[in-house]
Amino acid sequence: MSVTDKPPRAQPLFHGGAAAAARSPADPRVSFFDHHAPTWDQNGDDLAVTLKRLETLRGRLALVPGQEVLELGCGTGRLTAWVVDCVRPGRVTAADFSPAMLARAQARNAASEFWLLDICAPPPARDRFDVVFCFHAFPHFRDQLQALKHIAQLLKPGGRLIILHLVGRTRLNHFHAQLAHPVNHDRLPAREEWLALLNSANLRLDAFVDEPDLFLLDATALKCCG
Ligand SMILES: C[S@@+](CC[C@H](N)C(=O)[O-])C[C@H]1O[C@@H](n2cnc3c(N)ncnc32)[C@H](O)[C@@H]1O
Repeated sequence: MSVTDKPPRAQPLFHGGAAAAARSPADPRVSFFDHHAPTWDQNGDDLAVTLKRLETLRGRLALVPGQEVLELGCGTGRLTAWVVDCVRPGRVTAADFSPAMLARAQARNAASEFWLLDICAPPPARDRFDVVFCFHAFPHFRDQLQALKHIAQLLKPGGRLIILHLVGRTRLNHFHAQLAHPVNHDRLPAREEWLALLNSANLRLDAFVDEPDLFLLDATALKCCG
């Protein structure tokens, strides 16, 4: 029996720093995303359209069978089953710091583990992944350098970070600027900023695409951290 054949856990795993952060009012985005969780699937992008586009990107993303993937900022788990399908019989762990988002992700019953995890707080040391897949989430990480350092710690040496948006950086940042506090200042960095951030986190930039309808960053963990 493969790992992905196991039924999902009844309760999400809580990790020390993550659980504390999720309880803490320190990052107002937890309440923001908790508040939006019940209506997220109705108000967000059309899932069928999103999945169709992801299929066209599957080869480029190089999510392949057998990989162990952390889907970071999974929200309500709209993509989790797709990631599971890409890497089966590999293992997918879906993580988010919003308990309400994560509860919905878990209710979808994808063959995944679920972590309540704040990526800006120190991560658990026990698991390492081939890929950290971060879809439509990175701009919301309140401390992007810390997030990248923690991602590097969660990757195996040579493991890959994929940051994906189905819209380019300029349009995305403009969209966020029109939203309310606490997400109106959340931004995707410019290429030069990425280079500095990744370098400080021991990650190497391998690919950077910023087109009107696509932002794709691919980076590799240079060495084992933490
Ligand atoms: C715009 S939503 C996208 C959710 C999902 N990927 C989707 O496409 O529907 C961003 C997600 O990132 C999560 N998030 C924001 N900051 C986080 C952090 N520091 N650690 C973990 N998750 C975080 C939010 O709770 C939210 O679910």
